[in-house]
Amino acid sequence: MKILQNISLKPFNTFGMDVPAKYFAFFQTSDQLLEILSSDICASSDTLLLGGGSNLLFTKNINGIVLKDEIKGIELLQETDEHYFVKVGAGEVWHDFVMYCVQKGYAGLENLALIPGCVGASPMQNIGAYGVEIKDVFHSLEAMHIKDKSVNVFLNKDCEFGYRESVFKNKYKNQFAITSVTFKLQKKPSYNITYGAISKELENMGVKDLSLHAISQAVINIRQSKLPNPIEIGNAGSFFKNPEIDVKHFETIQHDYPSIIGYATGENRIKLAAGWLIEQCGWKGYREGDAGCYAKQALVLVNYGNAKGEDVLQLSEKIIASVEAKFGVRLEREVNIM
Ligand code: FAD
Ligand code: EPU
Repeated sequence: MKILQNISLKPFNTFGMDVPAKYFAFFQTSDQLLEILSSDICASSDTLLLGGGSNLLFTKNINGIVLKDEIKGIELLQETDEHYFVKVGAGEVWHDFVMYCVQKGYAGLENLALIPGCVGASPMQNIGAYGVEIKDVFHSLEAMHIKDKSVNVFLNKDCEFGYRESVFKNKYKNQFAITSVTFKLQKKPSYNITYGAISKELENMGVKDLSLHAISQAVINIRQSKLPNPIEIGNAGSFFKNPEIDVKHFETIQHDYPSIIGYATGENRIKLAAGWLIEQCGWKGYREGDAGCYAKQALVLVNYGNAKGEDVLQLSEKIIASVEAKFGVRLEREVNIM
């Protein structure tokens, strides 16, 4: 186990921000993690756990220690009449794990294909896409407490999952290193193709018989058609969350903007498409230096090459202010600002 010094984080975040970390270490096992956390450097530094760096915006130098989770392994723990219980190392690449499940016939994750990042970060914001969130198939996770080094198991109910939320972003922020996640996957798939353009895409693909593979491919096709590939253009997916407002507020906006997009999420609550709000304010395709608002999806902020984290953050502030001025809706960031 080696603690490196003054390491550029540019290869470790999908925005491609070039900031140095004072200390940096990789770990492949829980024992290595324990060893690093027990070091004098960890005892006296702030700790940042890192997966694929696809939901982070670095705006300044990191003066603490960055720990890159590389714990691998996929294990079928248990099989019942209806379910497979699969335990996965936090450092496994999310999309590779989804495709592994598709190939094995473990159902439940196919709508979540092509989300960047690692398995360990998936519970952090309860990742979601195309009508599925990981809370729907999450069984439990194991995590080491960063300070007292205890090993803890969190069941689904302990994680307090919400839309892009969990306890790990809130009351337990920066307190745990997730080492594995166990999923409860179905033997008999219940295909979910009602959301967005999935059924249309399946039709375009000429699919007659639904399968896990066909659904994952439809999701991949849709995502590739609108989201920028971080290898080509720096980004962290949706920069903001889709906001919720009450029905009265929605109707007021709808009166002036009949094309507004909103979905009922509960009694008296409507979720708006933040991408639509941002587009209406004229930001879609906007570029200021190398920071911009993506031309095919206004919810995604991008780094065309040499933008600084601060440039993207400032652009996000201008967008928040203009959406609030026009619609009276305050956008919240989804991306973690460091
Ligand atoms: P990182 O960015 O490395 O970390 C994110 C947060 O989790 C940080 O706070 C970090 O400290 C913490 N963390 C990471 N690993 C651990 C660990 N082992 N233990 C404790 N804390 C940890 N998200 C969606 O929900 N749905 C989408 O459809 C989606 N689409 C995207 C599309 C693109 C093109 C991109 C670039 C991003 C997209 N995202 C999406 C966001 C992102 O991919 C997810 O949030 C993903 O889960 C982040 O994983 P990561 O490993 O890169 O996490
Ligand atoms: N829209 C616009 N203009 C835009 C972008 C979108 O009008 O510039 C409209 C679309 O036409 C559509 C609606 O907004 O009617 C929703 O758009 P889309 O289906 O692209 O999804 P989204 O709400 O923008 C959310 C998630 C994505 C997830 C997709 C698919 C959030 C913050 N984002 O995006 O997650 O992949 O749905 O389920 O909830 C992420 O979290 O990083 C992410 C990419």
